Amino acid sequence: MGKYEAVIFDLDGVICHTDKYHYKAWKTIADRLGVYFDETINNRLRGVSRMESLDIVLERYEGTVTREEKERWAEEKNEIYRGLLGEMSTEDLSEEVASTLRELRAGGYRLAIGSSSKNAKFILSRIGLGDFFDAISDGNNISRSKPDPEVFVKAAEYLGIAPGNCLVVEDAQAGIQAAKAGGMDCAAIGDAAQCRIATYDLKRFQDLLEIV
Ligand code: BG6
Ligand code: MG
Repeated sequence: MGKYEAVIFDLDGVICHTDKYHYKAWKTIADRLGVYFDETINNRLRGVSRMESLDIVLERYEGTVTREEKERWAEEKNEIYRGLLGEMSTEDLSEEVASTLRELRAGGYRLAIGSSSKNAKFILSRIGLGDFFDAISDGNNISRSKPDPEVFVKAAEYLGIAPGNCLVVEDAQAGIQAAKAGGMDCAAIGDAAQCRIATYDLKRFQDLLEIV
């Protein structure tokens, strides 16, 4: 083992890709409400909780909205989203991610999930990783979402590893800020690697093996 004892992975956009399902589900709600919604707006929802995502979707909504309506729309979005997640399978876990995770496990690293999603366990089971991780910290055990560090601090706690010995892997700017605020180094992948605020910028997932 090298610099770190544990790796904490964001789920959506890092381990697998659920953007298109979030997009379809939010688009259905937005269309119903007559609100403009596109993929650029959808990208702003990365790492953001479900209710905060709805607030972003409703930025262009004209008129007042009650809390009950918001809760209903978020619930409806989630029902559509979960229906779409049901289409996911082990095919949605890439060979690159699977083999990198196996190598990290063989190298003795403790591995955890740190995700804002309340559907994290369902997604992991769909892609065949239901029992793989040593700990899961997700939208169900936090009260503040990224960029607050709570989700990662809890993941480190569940693993029993000091934050300074954990590396976080993230695809969202809010997630990188969360890792830093929690005193953790962070590897950015995807669009987040363009922000240049992470400890490392990865071109490919398997580059992780070079930095741990
Ligand atoms: C994050 C996604 O992982 O989970 C966000 O990047 C999403 O886009 C958030 O809003 C909450 O997801 P869920 O599954 O609890 O609605
Ligand atoms: Mg993400």
